[in-house]
Amino acid sequence: MDIERVSTGVPELDKLLRGGIPKNFFVAVTGEPGTGKTILLLHFIAKGIEIGDKCIYITTEESRESIIRQASQFKWDFQDAINKGNLVIIDALMRPIEDEYSLNRLDIEELVNKVIEIKKRFGYGHCRLAIDSLSAFWLDKPAMARKYSYFIKKVLNRWNMTIVATSQYAITTSDAFGFGVEHIADGIIRFRRAIRNGVLKRYLIIEKMRQTPHDLHLWEIEIVDGVGLKIVRPAIERAEDYALPTHVKRRIIRAREEKDSEIP
Ligand SMILES: Nc1ncnc2c1ncn2[C@@H]1O[C@H](COP(=O)(O)OP(=O)(O)OP(=O)(O)O)[C@@H](O)[C@H]1O
Ligand SMILES: [Mg+2]
Repeated sequence: MDIERVSTGVPELDKLLRGGIPKNFFVAVTGEPGTGKTILLLHFIAKGIEIGDKCIYITTEESRESIIRQASQFKWDFQDAINKGNLVIIDALMRPIEDEYSLNRLDIEELVNKVIEIKKRFGYGHCRLAIDSLSAFWLDKPAMARKYSYFIKKVLNRWNMTIVATSQYAITTSDAFGFGVEHIADGIIRFRRAIRNGVLKRYLIIEKMRQTPHDLHLWEIEIVDGVGLKIVRPAIERAEDYALPTHVKRRIIRAREEKDSEIP
């Protein structure tokens, strides 16, 4: 049986995904600051607008205006899509009070209810949901990452939507990892960065995509003005390209040592 796939908006990435993200999946996009996570989400939404999917973008990291401006640098007119009722941007950073879709709190239940309310208004048909970032909803309680991700996936699964959500590293107390979302997610696209010969390089790797014989290489990417994210070439494999950042590794080791020392 053929799996229906949803384009990411980056043609080369769709090829690596053997056609795109399986419809109604919940995909996590992770990685360090400035590596291209938000821009990938913008591609995903711009593609949705182009093909007539209804779209919801939740921004906790930047204001709505900032998102619209960033999109316009890649020639996507998000304001026009908003005016036509095809896109709703929920601004959870500035929380404009005059806004009918504003979130009062960074609360996961409120988020899910709001999304369902918008989806109902959109009516039948497939919808794209971008959440940037999901980690903001458990900033002060990183141990809840997994539970919250599970809740989102379970509840929204019934609403015919494909979800792409960014998530940052989070270290929980003695459990060492606070990824949480990554086990729940149907797919993981990870961004990396490194300095090579004094130049910032960015990379992308598909770490997981259920039901997909996806590509397994680390790819060098570029963010090009007026164009967006481009996949350039396979990276020469070097451990530091895909390993966790040193400070994260150190904290994990320290947390493990602490845990071990508690064992009598
Ligand atoms: N118009 C543009 N042309 C070229 N490069 C751009 C343009 N706009 C942004 N960039 C590059 O993209 C980077 C930001 O990427 P993006 O916002 O996707 O990062 P991110 O992974 O979401 O980071 P964070 O975790 O901080 O939100 C900028 O630092 C810049 O290098
Ligand atoms: Mg971002």
